[in-house]
Amino acid sequence: MQHLRTTFDIPDRATLERLLHRAQHLKRRRAERRLAPTLSGRVVGMLFEKASTRTRPSLEAGVALLGGATVVLHARDAHALGEEHEPLRDAARVLGSYVDALVARMRSHADLEELARHARVSVVNGQSELDHPCQVVTDLFTVFERKERPFETRWAYVGEARGTANGLVALAALTGIELAMALPEGSALDAQTLARARAAGARVTVGHDPQAAVRDAGVVSTEAWTSLSALEPSARAARVAALTPLQVNDALLSHAADDAVVLHPLPARRGQEITDDALEGMRSVAFQQAGNRLCVQQALLEWLLGVPAEAA
Ligand code: CP
Repeated sequence: MQHLRTTFDIPDRATLERLLHRAQHLKRRRAERRLAPTLSGRVVGMLFEKASTRTRPSLEAGVALLGGATVVLHARDAHALGEEHEPLRDAARVLGSYVDALVARMRSHADLEELARHARVSVVNGQSELDHPCQVVTDLFTVFERKERPFETRWAYVGEARGTANGLVALAALTGIELAMALPEGSALDAQTLARARAAGARVTVGHDPQAAVRDAGVVSTEAWTSLSALEPSARAARVAALTPLQVNDALLSHAADDAVVLHPLPARRGQEITDDALEGMRSVAFQQAGNRLCVQQALLEWLLGVPAEAA
C-alpha cells in the first residue's frame, strides 16, 4: 500500500521526476480540455479536521476533472473521533471501505499515521504539523516550470519551522537541492526529519540569519506564522519581535539571485511573514503555485492509485 504521509514516502528522485512530468502533461491537457478520465470509477475521500481554501478544493476539482468522485467529510459533520468517542481506527476502517484513497488533514500527525495503519487504502497527508507533501511537491513543480536546472537551484526558506519547512528538508534529501534555512530562535525542525535527510546526504543548513540564507538563492520560500491571536499581549510582542527580522520583503530579496522566484504556500498574512510588495512583486509565483496544486495532486493520486501509464 503506497501512502503519502510525509514527503519521504516518495521513494526516490526518479519517481519525483516522473510526477513532475506527469503534472506538466496534466496541466497542458487541462488547458486544452483534453484530460483523459484516468480516475473514472475511483472515489477519493477527504477527512478534514481543519479549514482549507486550497488543498481540499483543488483535490475535489482535480479528481472531478479526471472522471473520479470525491466524498468530503468535515470533522464537524462526523461523529466525534477519539478514544472517548468513536476510535479513529474504527472510522479509518469504515471510510476506507468506501473510497480508493483518503486525504486527511488531521489535528495531529499521529492521527494521520493511525488512519494509514487502519484504512486499508492509500492515505495522503493533506497537511500536518510534521509535513505537507502535496504542498512541497507543488513548490518543486512551480520551480521546475521556471528554471532550466531546478535541481541545481539553491533554495532558501525563511520563517517558522512548520510542516512545509520539514517537507522541504525531505525534498532536499530526495532531490539533492541545496537548502539554506533561517528560522527564528526557539523554532526547530523535526529532529527525525532533519537527521534522516542528512543521513541521506541532504545539503541543508539551518541558522537564524535570513540574509545569509537568501544570499544568491534562486528560490526564496516562507510560510505564514503560527497564529498569534491566542497569545497574551506580552508573549505576542515577543513573538513578533523574534519573527519580524525573518520577514520576506524587498530588502531581503535584494540579497537573492537576480532571477530568484518567491514561493508562498498561502494563506499569506501580508505585513507579517511577507510584505504586500514581495507577494505581489514580479518575483512572486505564489498564485501560480496555488493553481499548480491541482495538477500536482492529480499526478500524485494517479501514482498512488496505480493508474497504468497506458490509461494516462
Ligand atoms: N497551502 C495550503 O495548504 O492551503 P490551505 O490551508 O488553504 O489548504
